[in-house]
Parts: sequence; C-alpha cells; structure tokens
Amino acid sequence: SRSLNLAVIPGDGIGQEVVAEGLKVLSAVLPQDVKLETKEYDFGARRYHATGETLTDADLDALKRHDAILLGAIGDPSVPSGVLERGFLLKLRFAFDHHVNLRPSKLLPGVATPLAGQPEIDFVVVREGTEGPYTGNGGTIRKGTEHEVATEVSVNTAFGVERVVRDAFARAQARPRKKLTLVHKNNVLTFAGHLWTNVFHKVAAEYPEVTTDYIHVDAATIYLVTQPERFDVIVTDNLFGDIITDLAAAVSGGIGVAASGNINPSGAFPSMFEPVHGSAPDIAGQGKADPSATVLSVALLLRHLGHEAEAARIEDAVSADLAERGGLPARSTSEIGDALAVRVAG
Ligand code: IPM
Ligand code: MN
Repeated sequence: SRSLNLAVIPGDGIGQEVVAEGLKVLSAVLPQDVKLETKEYDFGARRYHATGETLTDADLDALKRHDAILLGAIGDPSVPSGVLERGFLLKLRFAFDHHVNLRPSKLLPGVATPLAGQPEIDFVVVREGTEGPYTGNGGTIRKGTEHEVATEVSVNTAFGVERVVRDAFARAQARPRKKLTLVHKNNVLTFAGHLWTNVFHKVAAEYPEVTTDYIHVDAATIYLVTQPERFDVIVTDNLFGDIITDLAAAVSGGIGVAASGNINPSGAFPSMFEPVHGSAPDIAGQGKADPSATVLSVALLLRHLGHEAEAARIEDAVSADLAERGGLPARSTSEIGDALAVRVAG
C-alpha cells in the first residue's frame, strides 16, 4: 500500500528516546510516494498514575484503525509489578491476537558476543504469543497462610498450537537452510508437550523439504551457548520463548540490538513491533540507549507490511553502522539514529 498509518507508543523510560530514532529512520527510508501518518499514544506509567488506566476498550478501538503499532517500552519502578505487563502489553497481545511473537537473532560482523570466537548465529524464534502460562489461568487459595497454594495453568489449544507451528514451518521453508527445531519439555510436560509434538509431526508431513529437530528447553539453553549455529528457525511456547529469546539476545549482540514483532498474520488486527529490551529507567533521558533494536523492529514492521526492500536497507544500515562503531566509544542515541537515517537514505 502507498500509505502507512502508524500508531506510535513511546511509553516509559528509554522508550521515548529509541522510538524517536526509529521514526527518524523510518521517514528517511520510505519512498517519496508512501505517505507516512503517525499518531502518538501516551500509554505507560504516566497515564496510569494520572488516570489509573492502562489500556481501555476505547484505546483498543483507536489502535485497531492503524496499519501497525510501534512500541518503545512500557514499565516503571513506580508501578507495581504486573500492572502494566498484564494491563497493557499482554492485554494488547491478547486483544489483537498476536500469536506469532517473532524474535530474530543474528550476530552481525564486528558485534561483541560473550561466546568464544565469532560463531555463526542467524536464527529466528517463533514464540507463541497468546497461550501457555500467560493466559492468567490460575489462582491462589489459603493466601498468606503456610498452606497457600498457587496455580498458574498453561493453556495449550490444538488450534493455537497448530497455527503457530504452521507459521514456523512456512518461515523455515522460506529460508535457505530450511530447518525447524521444536523446543519444549515433553519429557515432563506430558500433556502440553505431547500436543505440541503431535501437531509438529503432523504439519511436518506437509513440508518434506524442511529438516526437523526436537530439543528439550533445558538442553536448548546449552546449545544456544555451545552450538548456536545449529539453529535456523525455532518454534516454542510462550514462556519458553520468553526465556530463550533473552538468552538468544545475550549471545547475539545484547538487548541493544534485539528486535521483535507481535504478529497477527491474518491482518485482522494490526501487528505490534517493539525492541525486546525494557524501559531501562536507570539510563533514561541520558541519550545512552542504543536505538538499533527499535530501528530493527521498524524493519520487521516494514517487512510485515510488504516493504521488503526498505526493510533490507534498514538491516544493511544497522549492520554497517555496528561494524563501523565496533571498538569505538559509543555514540549517543540520536547520533546513532542520525547515522542510520543517512545510510538508509543514501
Ligand atoms: C517480553 C517481556 C514480556 C513477556 C513481559 C514484560 C510481559 O518479557 O516481551 O519478552 O514476558 O512477554
Ligand atoms: Mn521477555
């Protein structure tokens, strides 16, 4: 489409700073004939303190009308843990059925990794985004007593598992190595694990060219450190995906470069793109945050909306910029954004 109508949610802390740079690069990369419209929304800690609201039904109606959503970060120590996480971020993912949580990891040339040498790291995690232990299906009895019991039940539906497994197979099929690894814990989680494994094998039969593999999540954390090159596409449940994508970010350049998409592949609702990092209140307002993760999330956003050439230009620019500044003293948030804007325009 020749217009792009974006909802922008800078949010809290460094979210404000990195989103400004993401938009700077987006404006620079878009062709003249694509009309960019943005509307900013004030969700996050300030709105919560002012009104007690996190995300209302009216907000969801407004957000629904955009082509996509760009989010910086939501969260602040002044808000009790769980309020914004459940009331904003998870509410949005569930309301817009963002069942594909896409988190690519690529170790770019010259980028530091805590791993030995410069291993080949280029994989993407397809994390289920709407089920598992994130559904809020649990409870507490005898609260505050010595006999308190808390449950947090993981919900896995055949429908929900199959659609995300299918998405992952399609992504694996489209990549040169065509390999898909299911990460779960089916030796212990014999109900959900078996559902995932059965669906995985059923769909695999339709993708004879895709090589498949299964790894327990605990072993996967070892391989992500010792043999990251063995991964191409990983599909996994919501909580396992949350945990292994932080590890994946840590080995492939850190959360300063980790991008993500909360995708509704049907397009029924807008997808949301955000850096994996949080609001980092300790460095907020100092121009210290690396906007690369947000800029790379903008690339995912453009690719999702069919602007492949522009997405690739952004990724090339970030790669070149990281290679160039490797070893040098870090530049400020806006200096990095300026340099990327120049590169994508050139
Ligand atoms: C993430 C975050 C969220 C999650 C939290 C903030 C709810 O850790 O995006 O990975 O667990 O999904
Ligand atoms: Mn996380």
